[in-house]
Amino acid sequence: MNDAITINALTKIYGTKNAVNNVSLSIQERELFGLLGVNGAGKTTLIKMLSCLTKPTSGDATLLGKSITKEPEQVRTAIAVSPQETAIAPDLTVRENLELMAGVHGFNKEKTKIKTDEMIAQFSLHPYEKQRSKTLSGGWQRKLSIAMALISEPRILFLDEPTLGLDIIGRRELWALIEKLKEKTTIILTTHYLEEAEALSNRICIMKDGQIKAIGSAQELIEKANTESFEDAFVYFVTEGDTR
Ligand SMILES: Nc1ncnc2c1ncn2[C@@H]1O[C@H](COP(=O)(O)OP(=O)(O)OP(=O)(O)O)[C@@H](O)[C@H]1O
Ligand SMILES: [Mg+2]
Repeated sequence: MNDAITINALTKIYGTKNAVNNVSLSIQERELFGLLGVNGAGKTTLIKMLSCLTKPTSGDATLLGKSITKEPEQVRTAIAVSPQETAIAPDLTVRENLELMAGVHGFNKEKTKIKTDEMIAQFSLHPYEKQRSKTLSGGWQRKLSIAMALISEPRILFLDEPTLGLDIIGRRELWALIEKLKEKTTIILTTHYLEEAEALSNRICIMKDGQIKAIGSAQELIEKANTESFEDAFVYFVTEGDTR
């Protein structure tokens, strides 16, 4: 199988903070890659660099063979991001937000209508389509944000805490959708819900202080940490070496 993403010594320094510190790894095509770590571990910074939203301080990565530092425009056409802070236009309606995204990707009128209708149906957004987005509840704003990311049928999808604030029904719906997407999309998912990462991911990477602490399937990480559960394994890797 081909690599969808190859990361080579990627580093991001903010002032004196080494947010991502010399990370190297590969992600295969159609892999669902879970990115875990405590608050401030560097997950969002890594995703922002891979999706060309922020430039690395050093190092590089290729996505489908294109370099994030040398060919960011080509990278951008193949990917989509659902950011941690939802990126919707608050004064536009649900439908208008989706149409705006379709426009960003250069869809013609006909394709815009087809894809917008498809996303509204897939995410059960029909009752809200004429409502201004800022008047939606937080969970529905999140669903809209993910629908906007998916409208372009990206080959690589970044989901930064997609289920944050969703109720259990919404989370289960999204899990089912992610399971379906896995068939044709490479997905990088961050979450603080460990059972979610365990259930959905092919491999999981645990980050701490900008570095990789462990990488493997949930089962492999449990065996490596020699613990009963994945949650215990996670705690083991993020506290390993701490004196507290
Ligand atoms: N724009 C920025 N300017 C300065 N420091 C930043 C910036 N963005 C992130 N950082 C710092 O980089 C580190 C990593 O942050 P990041 O947002 O990548 O963590 P995270 O793993 O996504 O955390 P969380 O689980 O809370 O979302 C933190 O110490 C954070 O304060
Ligand atoms: Mg984050």
